Amino acid sequence: MRIILVTGGAGFIGSNFIRYFLTRNKNFILINMDKLTYAGNLKSLKEINDSPRHHFIHGDICNYELVNYVMRKYRPEIIINFAAESHVDRSISNPSIFAETNIMGTLTLLESAGRIWSKQGYKGCKFLQVSTDEVYGSIDNNTDYFFEDSCIQPNSPYSASKAGADLMVRAFSRSFGIPAVISRCCNNYGPYQNREKFIPKGITCALRNEPIPIYGDGKNIREWIHVLDHCSALTRLIFYGKPGEVYNIGTGDELDNIELAQRILTDLEKPQDLIRFVNDRPGHDLRYALSSRKIKNSLGWMPKISFEEGLHQTIKWYKDNRDWWEG
Ligand SMILES: NC(=O)c1ccc[n+]([C@@H]2O[C@H](COP(=O)([O-])OP(=O)(O)OC[C@H]3O[C@@H](n4cnc5c(N)ncnc54)[C@H](O)[C@@H]3O)[C@@H](O)[C@H]2O)c1
Repeated sequence: MRIILVTGGAGFIGSNFIRYFLTRNKNFILINMDKLTYAGNLKSLKEINDSPRHHFIHGDICNYELVNYVMRKYRPEIIINFAAESHVDRSISNPSIFAETNIMGTLTLLESAGRIWSKQGYKGCKFLQVSTDEVYGSIDNNTDYFFEDSCIQPNSPYSASKAGADLMVRAFSRSFGIPAVISRCCNNYGPYQNREKFIPKGITCALRNEPIPIYGDGKNIREWIHVLDHCSALTRLIFYGKPGEVYNIGTGDELDNIELAQRILTDLEKPQDLIRFVNDRPGHDLRYALSSRKIKNSLGWMPKISFEEGLHQTIKWYKDNRDWWEG
């Protein structure tokens, strides 16, 4: 059996990835290391928890001794790092935990992986850093796109900490030869996402007939991907991503926040006046948009889930799984 170490596997994308990956790769045992912060929830893995191919370790990626122990015990050939503090608003009120987990945690994983993997000459090893389009900063027009070699100009403590991690991964790749790949994905949506994020907040507020808060004038534009399309791209990067490279992952499905809230309300047959404008977030980026030509052309990846269908399925999931988000 082959071994993959997943960090942050009890979170939104991590738990979806574990289900996706284990179902399709039966020759893998997956070690899931998660600190179980407020964002981690083992209920998101309920049908996987008892699988003999899933080993859960309750632990912090900043704990060098523990990470080293896990690396020595299991000898994973692949590490995929989802573990992070991930909410922009929280990074504005408490930036330091973002620097700690997102930068120092990534550094800890890299140091440990470097120590163990260098003994085997890095043969067959891969480190995949799950990053974000937010590291590029904001596009202040409706026509440009970010490419993999665009400038990194993060505007929030969250995106700055993710950019710091990306630079550390790059440095370890260049200085020590760690076979590392960085993915930068647009905004994800789908089942098991914490209610603090825009789409689940909109759906769950509407389901409770509560106002949906929208920052500023609601004209901020985001590019959206269903989490399972992100998982398929990450799986492709694990097996075929070229070490030392960055890959953008996007769909081209761009929407402003008002339109998105309106679509949620329409799907749920709720009144549009549930939309409430609130004071804007400081440093709120106007638009994110990626060119994803590289992963499409070089690795043949394509997203499969249309935004209309994916949003409808996601709304249905929150309707059908109230115990997950209300419990
Ligand atoms: N959600 C998105 O739209 C999006 C888009 C692009 C990239 N990303 C990136 O994908 C990754 C996963 O995002 P998500 O939305 O699933 O986040 P999430 O907040 O839902 O999950 C994060 C997980 O990491 C765990 N964690 C936090 N600190 C830890 C630590 N020190 N040690 C071990 N585990 C720790 C949490 O318990 C949680 O299970 C993040 O790195 C994020 O930056 C997210």
